[in-house]
Amino acid sequence: MTHALTGAPPFWLPGRFLVAAIGAFLLATTWSLFAAADLADFYYHVHVLALTHLVTLGWITMTIMGAMYQLVPVALQARLWSARLGPWQFWLYVVGVAGMVVHFWIGEFVGMAGSALFVLAGLLIFLVNMAATLARAGLRDLAARHLAAALVYLLGTAVLGVLLALDKTLGFLRGEFLGLIAAHAHLAALGWVTMTIFGVSYKLIPMFTLSAVQQPRLAAWQFWLFNVGLLGVFWSLFLSSPFTPLFAAVAGAAILLHAIQVLAILRQRKRPPLDLGIIHALTALGYLVLLVPVGLLLATGLLPDTPFRARVVSAYGFLGLMGWVSLTIVGMLYKIVPFLVWYHCYSARVGLEPVPVMDRLYSRGLQRAGYWLLNLGITGTAAGLLAGGPQWLAVGLGLLAVGAWTFGINMGMILSRLFTVGRRARVPPAACSAGSERAAS
Ligand code: HEM
Repeated sequence: MTHALTGAPPFWLPGRFLVAAIGAFLLATTWSLFAAADLADFYYHVHVLALTHLVTLGWITMTIMGAMYQLVPVALQARLWSARLGPWQFWLYVVGVAGMVVHFWIGEFVGMAGSALFVLAGLLIFLVNMAATLARAGLRDLAARHLAAALVYLLGTAVLGVLLALDKTLGFLRGEFLGLIAAHAHLAALGWVTMTIFGVSYKLIPMFTLSAVQQPRLAAWQFWLFNVGLLGVFWSLFLSSPFTPLFAAVAGAAILLHAIQVLAILRQRKRPPLDLGIIHALTALGYLVLLVPVGLLLATGLLPDTPFRARVVSAYGFLGLMGWVSLTIVGMLYKIVPFLVWYHCYSARVGLEPVPVMDRLYSRGLQRAGYWLLNLGITGTAAGLLAGGPQWLAVGLGLLAVGAWTFGINMGMILSRLFTVGRRARVPPAACSAGSERAAS
C-alpha cells in the first residue's frame, strides 16, 4: 500500500530502521563510557571492534537503510520494489548485528562470523530491493547515481567484512593484515557512507533551503573523481601498494569539491535563515574537510609507526564516524523524522482541526543544547584519543553521551505522537496512520 506521498512505503518500514538506529546510537555512546580504557588503548581491540560495528552497522547503516526506503521512492519517483521484504530484512539484519557486536565483545570469532552471515543475508535483500527500485527511477539524476554507487560499495564492504570475519578462524587471507582492515574500513566509510551522504545532500540541502545545485556538470565530475579516488585508496590499501597517497589526494580533492558545491548551493538559497538541522550537517562537513589532510598524512607513511601514530589513527577514525557521519545523520534526522511523523499523524487533519507545525513536535532548546554537547564531546574525545589521556577521554565521552541522549529524548518526543495523537482525539492510536491512509483513498 502506498500513501498520498507518491510511492512512499507504510510508515513502519522506514520507521523501524530509524527507531532501531537511534537506539543503537544511544547504546553505543552510553556503552563507550564504560570502555574508555579500551578506547585509549590501541585501536585494534575486540571491544573497539564491537563498538565500531554497533556504530557502523547499527546506527549508521540502519539509518541509511531507513532513509533510503523513504527517500528513494519519494525523491526519485519510483515505487518501492517490495515493501513486504522490508520486515524480513530488518529482523535478519538486526539479529546479525547484535550477534556480531556481542561476539566481538567477548572475543568469540566463530559466533561473530556466523552472525556476519546473517548481516550479509540482510544486506543482500536490501541491495536487491533498492537496486530494483533504483532501476525503475533510472540513473539520470545525480543523487540516484551516488546511491547506486554507494550500494555497490556496500556489497564490497560486506563481502570483505565477511571474509575478514571468516579469516579470524580459518586463516586463509594473505596480505598485510592492518592494510586489509584499512581497505575494508575506507571502502565502507568513503564508498558506502560518504557517497550516500553526498548523494542525499545534493537532493535534500537544495530542497530544505529552497536552492539548487549551482554547477551540475562540476558536481557530475566530482562524482567520478570521488569514485576514482576511493577505489584507488581501497585497492592500494588492499595490496599495500605505494600509490595510496596519490589516490588519497584524488579522493581528498573530490571531497573539497563537494564542500565547495554545498557552499555554492547555500549562497543561492531563497530561505535565508539556516535551521539547526542544516547547521549540524554543515559542521559535520567541516570535520570531513579537516580529516582530508590527516588522511593524506597517514597515507604518505611519513608518520613513523609509533604509539603516537596509532593514536592519530584512532582520532582520525573517531572523527570520521562521529564528527562527519554521526553529526550529519543527527542533522538529517531532525528534518526527516518530524516530517514523517507529522505527515502520518496530521496530514489528514489539516483544515479539519488545528495541527501543530513540524518543528513544534520537539524542543528546539534541547536541540541547541544537544548541538553544543555533541560537538564538545566529539572534539573532547578526539583530543583525548590523540593525547592518550583517559581523563580527557572520559570527559569527552560523557559530553557525547549526554548530547546523544538530548537527541534521543527529542526523537522520542516526536515519535510518541504516533501513539498519543489518536488517544487525545478519543480514537484508537492506529488512527494516527489510518488518518493519512483515509486521505489517500
Ligand atoms: C557485513 C558487514 C561487515 C562485516 C561482516 C564486518 C567485519 C569486520 C571485521 C571482521 C573486522 C575486523 C577484522 C579483523 O579483526 O580481522 C572489521 C573491522 C572494521 N570494520 Fe567492519 N564489517 C562490516 C561492515 C562494516 C561497515 C559498514 C563499516 C563502516 C561504515 C565497518 C567499519 C570497520 C572498521 C572501521 C574496522 C576497523 C576497526 C578497528 O580496527 O578497530 N565495517 N569489520
